[in-house]
Amino acid sequence: MNVLVIGGGGREHAIAWKIKQSPLLRNLYVVPGNGGTKSIAHNISIAVDDFEQIKTQALDKSIDLVVVGPEAPLVKGIKDFFQNDERLTHIPVFGPDSKGANLEGSKDWAKSFMEKYNIPTAPYKTFHKKEPNKALEYLENLTPPYVIKADGLAAGKGVVICHDKQQAHSELTSMLEHDKFGEASRKVVIEKFLEGIELSVFVITDGSDYKILPSAKDYKRVGEGDTGLNTGGMGSISPVPFAGKDFMDKVEQRIIQPTIKGLQEERIDYKGFIFFGLMKVDDDPYMIEYNARMGDPEAESIIPRIKTDLLDLMHASATGHLKEKSLAIDPRHSVSVMLVSGGYPGKYEKGKEITGISQGQNSLIFHAGTKENAHLETSGGRVMAITGMGDSLEAALEETYAGCKNVHFEGKYYRKDIGQDLLKYLNK
Ligand code: AMP
Ligand code: GLY
Repeated sequence: MNVLVIGGGGREHAIAWKIKQSPLLRNLYVVPGNGGTKSIAHNISIAVDDFEQIKTQALDKSIDLVVVGPEAPLVKGIKDFFQNDERLTHIPVFGPDSKGANLEGSKDWAKSFMEKYNIPTAPYKTFHKKEPNKALEYLENLTPPYVIKADGLAAGKGVVICHDKQQAHSELTSMLEHDKFGEASRKVVIEKFLEGIELSVFVITDGSDYKILPSAKDYKRVGEGDTGLNTGGMGSISPVPFAGKDFMDKVEQRIIQPTIKGLQEERIDYKGFIFFGLMKVDDDPYMIEYNARMGDPEAESIIPRIKTDLLDLMHASATGHLKEKSLAIDPRHSVSVMLVSGGYPGKYEKGKEITGISQGQNSLIFHAGTKENAHLETSGGRVMAITGMGDSLEAALEETYAGCKNVHFEGKYYRKDIGQDLLKYLNK
């Protein structure tokens, strides 16, 4: 098969790395890719939402499968674009259409879907631009902290947790009245704060069958001990030690199955990954949010644990044959730590030379913000994920952190405490 992967982050490098191992692969292309995908695939320097250019490339390269990594092209309708163009309609796309991507693209839509299909989630109410006063009134019924969410995509910044009413008022005013996130905050969801511990669960589905992928936990804050600003993700571990069989059975029965059934009842032919962002409250799972894709940096710890041919699985999903496939998972633990540019997620410098990545090491390297000029250099805040594996979480941590030390670039920073909070669940 000739395969086109859309995206240019660590997630897409991990996906491309795995596809590259498939005997079914002929040629691999990545749009736009990064310094890491360049060494295993052909990078094509076009934007992920430039569908006309993607069409030209898909036809020119005789693409047999398109795999979509990030949410933006999904929400914008890349799948619909392929389905509705008679020259492209024969090319399967792994990823939901724009209706399915609404699970991620509209928090209001996703919440009403959860409500309709009895999927446990925090109680909520949605408010429109014209009714800021109603939103302020609703706050009166709640106790802090207040959870306020812009309805649409806001580059991961659309959720604000406010610790007092004054902050909640000003947040609501800036979203609903001053278009803080443009179109995305013309509607807001206000919901109850859930107290618990978060985890990410993923399935691959073809709309009728599904397979549950390894669970993962990501670390979003820049500072150790989960302090400081939110980032795109500073690391992840898989599996999640507090998500045992009993808990995962509840996730499957209360969350995954009603979601698949709900999609069918809504006549949404969902083919792709579904990401369930969950809160474990006592021993029960609650939905926080759906994403219509793999997580990043969860992909960098999950994908190395998938033993099955991922290209075969994705193609089976995109063509509706998932039932015929099985999924094998490596029982080992994996840990992924993100090396970032000093200053990230605030201001940081780019163009720093990266050295040390070819030194013999057992860990894997998935590039995120890198590019190859005369030499390999940084081109983003999150530069690369180092992933190590081991029979225990401790062993995986050791391998990963050894790898983190080998790589050098000016201003390199990474969290040294990824996974530390979870050791207590294993050493009980
Ligand atoms: P989201 O973009 O919906 O994943 O929200 C970003 C983060 O906000 C989540 O990962 C949680 O840490 C937090 N969050 C969102 N909704 C809630 C909630 N109802 N209760 C507690 N924390 C939440
Ligand atoms: N790691 C969270 C996300 O991919 O949105």
